[in-house]
Amino acid sequence: MQNNTEDIIKPDSSEGVLNEIIQSLSKSQKELSCKFFYDEQGSILFEQISELEEYYLTRSEISILNNNIENISDTVGEEALILELGSGSSRKIRILLDNFKRVAAYIPVDISREFLLQSAKKLGQEYENLKIIPIVADYTRPFTIPDFEMPFSRLVAYYPGSTIGNFTKDQARKFLKNISELCGPKSGLLIGIDLKKESEILEKAYNDGKGVTAEFNLNILKNMNSTFGTNFEINKWKHIAFYNEEHGRVEMHLQSLEEQSVRLNGTSITFKKDETIHTENSYKYSIEEFKDMIEPFYSLNNVWSDPGNKFAVCYFEAK
Ligand code: TRP
Repeated sequence: MQNNTEDIIKPDSSEGVLNEIIQSLSKSQKELSCKFFYDEQGSILFEQISELEEYYLTRSEISILNNNIENISDTVGEEALILELGSGSSRKIRILLDNFKRVAAYIPVDISREFLLQSAKKLGQEYENLKIIPIVADYTRPFTIPDFEMPFSRLVAYYPGSTIGNFTKDQARKFLKNISELCGPKSGLLIGIDLKKESEILEKAYNDGKGVTAEFNLNILKNMNSTFGTNFEINKWKHIAFYNEEHGRVEMHLQSLEEQSVRLNGTSITFKKDETIHTENSYKYSIEEFKDMIEPFYSLNNVWSDPGNKFAVCYFEAK
């Protein structure tokens, strides 16, 4: 570790996690929490997704940042303390760090320990004068920001990648309420949101020709096997993704190719042929919809978008 990087470990209490998994695989529509996507392999695969031709989200977001960075920097202001929720987005944070004025410190929070510490170390080597404080934590559960003696003007939560779309609307609202409370009144929220658009474009983005998204989806089963000792047979499952217009979300599922059962800590779970495990939602918003959703605790300050209005980067201020 570089000496400008502190390794602060917040052990994630895995108590009850197994029960949670058994419960969600016992529902009539079986499901697995998308947070299990992001082991080390999952993080690597996601980096590959972000470079796919069909996956416009990352490219759009980066171009929005590049094209508007001066304005974004002025909006956020000097001496911001940047708290990044999830730290897979190394290219995006560099754009902020290169252009924001006198960043007080950078605090990446991520569940994937190795990935987090490696990228923090790399960043620390490139930005020698930057204070980096990685926190290993599941940011969807309560966590605390360590005390540090350092002047800063405002705490800015950075949540790129339309990751907010991977929560249900109810979860998203509660999550951002918690973040607004954690960061306090007048704190900022710089957030990337994928906008509503034709289903054809959306469905292509999650069904790429190279099958990387399929591999990413299937990796959740591998992760289950290695972390929780389940015995999913990966080749008996198939990736499917479609836009659910009614709910305004892309749904990802794993479909069982035959009738089969899987062992989970003494419990056996049976899957019928063609039955699916719902693994992910990716909600698409209009700016108006999103703004209204978090209106009780955040007010919209600024929006930047791409010429095709595919994606938006928004800056909110906590009330
Ligand atoms: N939040 C992004 C999205 O919804 C990235 C993402 C999360 C993703 N889970 C995914 C992309 C699964 C592809 C597949 O698009």
